Amino acid sequence: MAILLSGRGSNMLALVEATKSGVLKGLAEVVVVFSNKPDAFGLEAAAALGCPVAALPSQGRKREAFDTEAAQLLQQYQPDLVVLAGYMRILSSAFIQPFAGRILNIHPADTHQHQGLHAYEWAFENQLPETKITVHLVDEGLDTGPILAQQAVDLRGADTLAEVERRGLAVEHALYAQALADLIQNKQAVMSSKKTSC
Ligand code: GRF
Repeated sequence: MAILLSGRGSNMLALVEATKSGVLKGLAEVVVVFSNKPDAFGLEAAAALGCPVAALPSQGRKREAFDTEAAQLLQQYQPDLVVLAGYMRILSSAFIQPFAGRILNIHPADTHQHQGLHAYEWAFENQLPETKITVHLVDEGLDTGPILAQQAVDLRGADTLAEVERRGLAVEHALYAQALADLIQNKQAVMSSKKTSC
């Protein structure tokens, strides 16, 4: 898989860890960690772990032109899956088409209730008793793709935004790896059932 990020990269770290000693061990490997922000902390952290890294600055670029170039760069690594982990860009069809059906995202809320940025702030300000972390396939809308996995986070008693985020991120880190493992195992099962039937 290719992991895409723009910031601190805590989900990337959890996924890399899962490939080494968690639920993704033997199922997935990271072919590249890519960022549209060359100075993203997560990119540095990935390099420190020995992951292949690549960056292409998006600042000042037109969306389609940047997405075309980013997709071409990523295709050189031949990822089966493109895993967005805090990748702060809305993707155009120039990016989505080459990887259609193979791009995943994690959103820190139920995507039926909240889309876009600041989902933890939204949950905190509205004093929600829980939020639902969502892993979904990416289409051309903003957090509109089919849901693959969801898990509720109990927010009762979380009286700061930092506490809301702490609880949410702990769930994100486990759920993303598990959702990927389930997806890969399902794909493998489909492929092996096709193999035996002909
Ligand atoms: C996470 O909350 C994720 O759900 C959202 O962006 C944030 C990225 O955090 N899409 P990190 O960079 O993985 O720490």
